[in-house]
Amino acid sequence: MRIKVFTLFPDMLRPMLGASILGRAISAGLIDVELIDIRAYSEDKHRNTDDYPFGGGAGMVMAAQPIVDAFAANLPADYKGRRVYLSPRGRTLTQKVVEELAREDELTLLCGHYEGVDQRALDAVIDEELSIGDYVLTGGELGALVVIDAVSRLVPGVLGSDESSEDESFTTGLLEYPQYTRPADFRGQKAPDVLLGGNHAGIVAWRRERSLDLTLRRRPELLESAPLTDADRELLTRLKRAREIEAGFSALGLSRQDMQTADLWPKQWLSAFVPEANRKAARKQCVSGRRHVGWLWQAFSMGFIPAFIEGESAARAWREQTPIGSCTARGASRRTPLSASVRSFSRTRR
Ligand SMILES: C[S@@+](CC[C@H](N)C(=O)[O-])C[C@H]1O[C@@H](n2cnc3c(N)ncnc32)[C@H](O)[C@@H]1O
Repeated sequence: MRIKVFTLFPDMLRPMLGASILGRAISAGLIDVELIDIRAYSEDKHRNTDDYPFGGGAGMVMAAQPIVDAFAANLPADYKGRRVYLSPRGRTLTQKVVEELAREDELTLLCGHYEGVDQRALDAVIDEELSIGDYVLTGGELGALVVIDAVSRLVPGVLGSDESSEDESFTTGLLEYPQYTRPADFRGQKAPDVLLGGNHAGIVAWRRERSLDLTLRRRPELLESAPLTDADRELLTRLKRAREIEAGFSALGLSRQDMQTADLWPKQWLSAFVPEANRKAARKQCVSGRRHVGWLWQAFSMGFIPAFIEGESAARAWREQTPIGSCTARGASRRTPLSASVRSFSRTRR
C-alpha cells in the first residue's frame, strides 16, 4: 500500500509514522508513506499558502495553486489511487470505509488547515471528502494519521501473528468483549473464572455473550446489520429481557451493583422469587453456575422468574401462584446491604 500525504505540516505526522506497529510496517516495506510539503510548491515569493476568504469571515483559506501544483508534481496523470480530502464535511470514517480503502493499492490524503481549502483545488484534485467524526480539528493531519493507522492494520503482514484484525470491534459486526491479563486477581478484582480454565468452548461462548451484551447496551443499532446466528438471537432475547429486568429493579431502587451482591442473599430468596415448579432447575443453573452478576439476575435473565415486571396481569398471576408476602426479608442475612430496599420491594409485591 502506497500512501501520499499532502500537508503544510509534515512534522506533525513523522513521530507517529516512526513508532510502534506503523513504524515497523514502514521499515519492513509493507506500507510506504510519503509526506509532501505543500509549501514547497507555492509560487508566492514568501512561500505563502493561504489567504483571506472571499466574502469575508474569520480565518484564512488554503489557496488552490500550491495544492494543485503539488498534486501535479507528485501524482502521475494516470494515477489510479483514491484522492481523499480530510474534512468534517465528508463521509464519516467507519470500519467498512477503512476496509474499502484498504483494497486500494494507492491512496492520497490531503490535509486542510485554517478555515479549509479553496473549493477549486478540491474540485480539481480530490475524489472524496472523509471525516473522522463529528467534531472539528485544527488540521487534517490527525485525520490522515487515523486513516493511515486504521488502513495499515488491514494490510497483510502489518499485524504480527499474535495480533489479529479479524476478532475486533466492528470487524465482527459487534463490539469486542472485555479483555483481561495477569494477574488473575488485581487488588481484589478477579478476572472471570471461565477465562482462566482451559475450556475453549466455554471461553468462546463467554466472549460471544459479553460481546452481544456490550453491543446491546452501547451500540444497539449495530445489531441490525451484524451477522447473527440463531443462538445469538436467542441469547439476545435473554439479554434484552435481563435489561428490562434491570430497569424494573432500578425502578424499585435496586441497581445492577446491588444485584451482584444478590449472591449473598439467603436461600429464602430463591423461594421468594422463583415459583415452585422452576426452583430445582433455577437453583442448579443459577446458584452453582452464576455466570453473571449473581443468581438472582441469572434467574431472571434465564426466564425462571415470571415476567412480573412485564405487565400487571403477569404480576398478578405470579403473585396468586407464589405468596411472596409470606416470604419477606425476615429471613434475609444481616450481612445483606440490601435488606432495607428488599424489604420494601417485598412489601410492594404483597
Ligand atoms: C478548522 S478545520 C476547517 C473546518 C471548516 N471550516 C468547516 O467548518 O468545515 C481545518 C481542517 O482540519 C481538518 N479537519 C477538521 N475536522 C476534521 C474532521 N472531523 N475530520 C477530518 N478532517 C478534519 C480538515 O482538513 C480541515 O480543512
